[in-house]
Amino acid sequence: MNPKIFVVGSSNIDQFSYASNMPKDGETVFGESYETGFGGKGANQAVMIGLLGSDAYIITCLGDDLFADATLENYKNHLVNVDFVQRVSGSSGVAPIWVDSKGENRIIVIPGANSKIDSEKAILDIQKVGDISVIVGQCEIPMKINNEIFKFAKENNITTIFNPAPGKYLNSEFLNYIDWLIPNETEFEIVSKTNLNEENLIKFNGQIKGGLIVTLGERGAAYVKSDKIEYFDAPKVKVVDTTGAGDAFVGTFAHAIGMLKSPEEAIRLAIEKSSLSVTKKGTQSSYSSSSE
Ligand code: RIB
Repeated sequence: MNPKIFVVGSSNIDQFSYASNMPKDGETVFGESYETGFGGKGANQAVMIGLLGSDAYIITCLGDDLFADATLENYKNHLVNVDFVQRVSGSSGVAPIWVDSKGENRIIVIPGANSKIDSEKAILDIQKVGDISVIVGQCEIPMKINNEIFKFAKENNITTIFNPAPGKYLNSEFLNYIDWLIPNETEFEIVSKTNLNEENLIKFNGQIKGGLIVTLGERGAAYVKSDKIEYFDAPKVKVVDTTGAGDAFVGTFAHAIGMLKSPEEAIRLAIEKSSLSVTKKGTQSSYSSSSE
């Protein structure tokens, strides 16, 4: 049986501008191309999970605009269950994104409907499905909502994975609900309020109950254990666009944990999928299924 995995989080319409030169204050520059696509950290992670063959469910909130209907269709096309998607009046989330010639991005998220998820309804919906393997979350929805949902998950012995992106300080009560915390380097510094070095990684890991994995971009990932750090290399690839690579990692890791793989196997698969994603433009459009 496939694992049932819920993602609670954001859906955005990504608006990409690809440009060799990024504008400085007050400057106008020409870019090379413009594209739109489906994004949002929650959505990206759910799509990755759906592509890999777990039973993916998304709890997100869409507005009443054209973006919302297109987003629903996109979820269905990627085998993500949309029975529990919430709707409110107003705009759906959008994210203007600049990508430079090195494939690095700068993102502004306008959350819109993402801020209005009804957590009570979300919990009732999760209960309706039952037998959930994993719940995954990020910081693009209000932490109050995450707090209620992850508290419920912990009380019900559901494995929890949290990706603190965009970086936000997490209080100790919330951290107690998390089985796997997956920040990138910058997010680790924000969450832990320390600089990224081995001593601080091991120290912070000792302060939290769950496991800690820090993604290191082209250098792979670090799995922090009680007294040592295990590093996992990433393959050398030609980077086109790094947008959504972290989400590909988290979605793949969640799928692998749902499939009862070891954390080490889950990290290796997550690095493989996220490395592949940076070789293509866009977020979800750069993801590949298990057979590719
Ligand atoms: O992690 C990449 C995502 O961040 C984009 O899809 C964008 O929507 C923002 O949420």
